[in-house]
Amino acid sequence: MLDADVMASYSVGSATDGILAGTTVAAPALISLRNVVKEYDGLAGTVRVLQNLSLEVHKGEFVGVCGPSGSGKSTLINMITGIDRPTSGDVLVADTLLNKLSENELARWRGRSVGVIFQFFQLLPTLTVVENIMLPMDFCRMWTLKERPVRAMQLLEQVGLADQAHKLPNTLSGGQQQRAAIARALANDPPLLVGDEPTGNLDSRTADKVFDLFEQLVAQHKTFVMVTHDNGLAARLPRVVEVIDGRLSEGTRNGRVKAA
Ligand SMILES: Nc1ncnc2c1ncn2[C@@H]1O[C@H](COP(=O)(O)OP(=O)(O)OP(=O)(O)O)[C@@H](O)[C@H]1O
Ligand SMILES: [Mg+2]
Repeated sequence: MLDADVMASYSVGSATDGILAGTTVAAPALISLRNVVKEYDGLAGTVRVLQNLSLEVHKGEFVGVCGPSGSGKSTLINMITGIDRPTSGDVLVADTLLNKLSENELARWRGRSVGVIFQFFQLLPTLTVVENIMLPMDFCRMWTLKERPVRAMQLLEQVGLADQAHKLPNTLSGGQQQRAAIARALANDPPLLVGDEPTGNLDSRTADKVFDLFEQLVAQHKTFVMVTHDNGLAARLPRVVEVIDGRLSEGTRNGRVKAA
């Protein structure tokens, strides 16, 4: 994903809270996908990438999404973050029906409700680490101007990077950059964290340490959904769902997944 997409994912829409509140419904689960279909139109015709897929994730869960390349994992993740929209079906996340929101409402919702962690970090190279962490706060006008740098430093301390705060991202190691990206994902204190192969670009030792950090965040009541190809990490996840040809199969550890 390009920097512009990352910027867009934090941009503030013009929607008022009232409009957003109009789409709010009581939800038993933090994430509820109901009969989600996603189709793309291509030169060879329409391709159905997600096939009537349903999934529930409850608050405080740590869920892995596995499956072969091209099976629809990123497409599924993009439904949950509102980066993409379903062709049909409902996507209910953090009490909001995402498929009913306008682009502006969706951008505003995303900036406050979900922290996204990418495989290639997507830190802005011209900003220092601490400035990268403050960026989502600035876009969403969260916290006061005085509070933002203080909070950013606290988050960097939490991920063990306080001493790197004033460096440019490309002077950090891969593991350090991903820690900075995790701090950025936490900037607006979202209830939900989502990672699309967030350890995919790290060596196995570093990946293990970043995963330790994810476990700490879940212990601190965050809900976490992450795509991984790493069998070792998948074995550490309390719940795993598998996407095969756009359908979900039962998780190996917990039966909340509805096979479509
Ligand atoms: N914007 C798009 N337009 C057309 N087809 C798309 C688009 N995005 C994804 N696809 C197709 O949808 C299918 C699923 O893609 P997706 O990126 O979700 O797979 P994935 O499981 O994340 O794969 P990987 O493990 O390689 O990241 C692929 O066949 C892909 O080519
Ligand atoms: Mg993918």
